[in-house]
Amino acid sequence: MHFNLSIKAESDKLKFGDEAGLVKFFIEGENLEKLVDDFFASFSFPQNFIQKKSFLDKKNNSLTYYSSFGEPSVIFLKKAKVDKDFSSDFFRDYFAGLLPTLKSKQIKTVHVVVPAFSHFPGHFISDEYLIQTIVEGIHLGNYTFDKYKSEKNPKKNLQFVLHYSNKSLVSKVIEKTNQIMSAVHFTRDLVNEPAITLTPQEFAKRTKSELTKLGVKVTVMNKKELQKRKMNAILAVGGASNHEPLMMVLEYKPKTSRKKIALVGKGVTYDSGGLSIKPTQSMLEMKADMAGGGCVVGTIRAAAALKLPVEIIGVIPCVENMINGSAYKPGDVIVSASGKSIEVKDTDAEGRIVLADALHYASKQKPDEIIDFATLTGAIAVALGVIIAGMFTKNDDLAKRLNDAGNKTFERLWRMPFWDDYKTMIKSEIADVSNLGPRWGGAITAGKFLEHFVDEKIPWAHLDIAGPAIKHEYNNYTKNWDTGYGVRLMVDYLENI
Ligand code: BES
Ligand code: MG
Ligand code: ZN
Repeated sequence: MHFNLSIKAESDKLKFGDEAGLVKFFIEGENLEKLVDDFFASFSFPQNFIQKKSFLDKKNNSLTYYSSFGEPSVIFLKKAKVDKDFSSDFFRDYFAGLLPTLKSKQIKTVHVVVPAFSHFPGHFISDEYLIQTIVEGIHLGNYTFDKYKSEKNPKKNLQFVLHYSNKSLVSKVIEKTNQIMSAVHFTRDLVNEPAITLTPQEFAKRTKSELTKLGVKVTVMNKKELQKRKMNAILAVGGASNHEPLMMVLEYKPKTSRKKIALVGKGVTYDSGGLSIKPTQSMLEMKADMAGGGCVVGTIRAAAALKLPVEIIGVIPCVENMINGSAYKPGDVIVSASGKSIEVKDTDAEGRIVLADALHYASKQKPDEIIDFATLTGAIAVALGVIIAGMFTKNDDLAKRLNDAGNKTFERLWRMPFWDDYKTMIKSEIADVSNLGPRWGGAITAGKFLEHFVDEKIPWAHLDIAGPAIKHEYNNYTKNWDTGYGVRLMVDYLENI
């Protein structure tokens, strides 16, 4: 983390102490100049003409103003243009970008004037959620993964004060969002951790220590247990690593619950491709191939901390896809726990194989819904780019609710084709199903493969998060480290069940 952060609510009266900053938003419109003049007059600060001109200029949208008169010593002015390009990610992205820049400034407190909800018609579901995006942005901007940097800068304290008419509402939002964001940070720490440390065993150990204290039951099925349960799919993929495969089962049971949801996550702690080995460049990102599992763990952590009234069962098959004399091979046939046999045509299409046993196990628990998360295919990023995830489901109601949560949290989803025609593309001569389809439509055939292992009576959605789970340059909060994609999405989804 950049700072030891605290966030609190205050009424809309501004009062500054030493070393204070202020963030003020202006909604672009006809009276912008007058609003800026009035704002400066309210502090009796003389304005610098050149700075003002530059801020009013259409081409610029922010200004950092340093005052020689003390309180506040720095003012961050930011214009919001509420037009067709405005998005509900505005505040999240702005604060995520602001945070790291504060390191070089002598500020102890940043005051934020929360703008009125009425300025943004149609963009936020409530003022509560607008404020939540501010708090999320502050936390996201504070995130770092620098534990392996030997040069450590002492962490300074930084307090944010959010000024809004309804102080108790803001306090409530801060408290809740702090919980969500510590779950997001937990997931990001897992995903960013290099595979030399985050083995299946380490993944399970950290999950157990963080979640059991919240009352979540964490069961770890070791290799012997997997053998007993005939989970040969997980065993095959994990068979060539010095770190044995395992499967985590997480159970969160609140006193009252509206539904029982199974969340399944791909937990490949490293994907070398196996004998169908990847080139080095593609391997570089493959410590993040457990991001689906990380998302499930983070979601359940947040659900338990917030005491959401939904029963959740998490299922995470954890393996390292490696190479040695026991490696599974192209041409092998594996009989999965469900009894269905799988022809291995490519050992790099390993995620769907481990998920076969996990989805079968999840189906047996008779949940009301199953949602799986997996960095499953490069093909999904070819189709959609890296900023959103692909959604595969035959259930329109599930699709709608997931889609709504995606648009609200800006962890967006796009529904992909899922017709049964694609099923014929993964037929096998020797087994029930092949783990490889033709070159085109690879994300869809991967989803179709998974469908073989899900009870068709249970509503199910598969989310291919291979794009947005991995760091990318398109948001201030996704640039430097793998993103923890899916936790905010799922918390919102579960809240609205
Ligand atoms: N873990 C990868 C998918 C992936 C790619 C995730 C890029 C994140 C970023 C998966 O196991 C894989 O290797 N998929 C293959 C499938 C192919 C062999 C059918 C792929 O996408 O190339
Ligand atoms: Mg692979
Ligand atoms: Zn993989």
